[in-house]
Amino acid sequence: MTRIRGASVWEQGLYDHVTAHGKNEGEVLKAYEELAASTDSPAFAYLARLILDDERRHHQLFEDLAETIRTSAELSDEPCPIPDLALLKADRERILGETERFLAMERDDNKELERLAKDLKDVRNTTVWQLVVRLMQDDNEKHRRILEFIRDRTRE
Ligand SMILES: [Fe+2]
Ligand SMILES: [Fe+2]
Repeated sequence: MTRIRGASVWEQGLYDHVTAHGKNEGEVLKAYEELAASTDSPAFAYLARLILDDERRHHQLFEDLAETIRTSAELSDEPCPIPDLALLKADRERILGETERFLAMERDDNKELERLAKDLKDVRNTTVWQLVVRLMQDDNEKHRRILEFIRDRTRE
């Protein structure tokens, strides 16, 4: 366990929790890597790789989170991987306008994807195509969540 200089009990506890979880993610990541590499089924490898890509990102996010908690607890001048939320206000007007525009784009995109998914209904059990479209819709939900966060925090 890394002891952080100057950390409060809460900060240290949070850091420990995040690094422990990050280690778990690392093991999950390794398991998926092995799975994707070890199969003779190209379809299975393709799908396992989709999960693997997400797990890689989770691993990176946990690293960013731990590093940011540590750097801010130490009150150091080092830049944090995850910037302070106050910095969102730096470009407030433009951010608000753009965020609304992107939210609308995401909504339109999801309508398009819904139509496409319906077109693929007949092959949903014989191809991976509809699943791929559904996954993009799921991603767009995530994008919406990010954009709404930005909009709401910038407005405040
Ligand atoms: Fe994960
Ligand atoms: Fe999107």
